[in-house]
Amino acid sequence: MAKLEVVVFPDDRLRRHCRPLKAEEIDDKLRTLCADMLETMYADEGIGLAAPQVGLSIRLVVIDIPDEDGSQGKNPLVLINPEIVRHEGTVPSTEGCLSVPDYTAEIERFETVTVKALDQYGREFTLDADGLLAICLQHELDHLDGKLFIDKLSMLKRNMLKKRYLKLKKEAQHAAAEAE
Ligand code: NI
Repeated sequence: MAKLEVVVFPDDRLRRHCRPLKAEEIDDKLRTLCADMLETMYADEGIGLAAPQVGLSIRLVVIDIPDEDGSQGKNPLVLINPEIVRHEGTVPSTEGCLSVPDYTAEIERFETVTVKALDQYGREFTLDADGLLAICLQHELDHLDGKLFIDKLSMLKRNMLKKRYLKLKKEAQHAAAEAE
């Protein structure tokens, strides 16, 4: 398994509409990618990761909601070509994202969702979710359409964030150049 590089906002790869996977693409190579994505997510202490966050424009998401004691690894979930087929209610949700590091904001989400997807073996399943899982599913599925949770904030806040992350990127590039 390998840890992958996580794409950070603002990056065009986070803005692409991802394509569905074909049945013949659901093979060992894809399952290795799923394992790598889970490893990357655990290493960065995330609860979900979508393929565009590792630079791939395909409809693939991994999720692992921690247990009560905060530990992960027992509930890995792979969703291929996921779709929200039903939703109900709304709840406030404080979210962060591995592609928008060190930032959280409160937005609104559906309270419960039903999601249809394929697993890593191409088998269709339906998931009724509430609580953190419902929110995580909506957040990750948004990634597949090039959407980020910060899109729900005001233009002013988003522009401030963009400036902040561009500045951080520049500083990192500068530091890397000086280290050479
Ligand atoms: Ni995210």
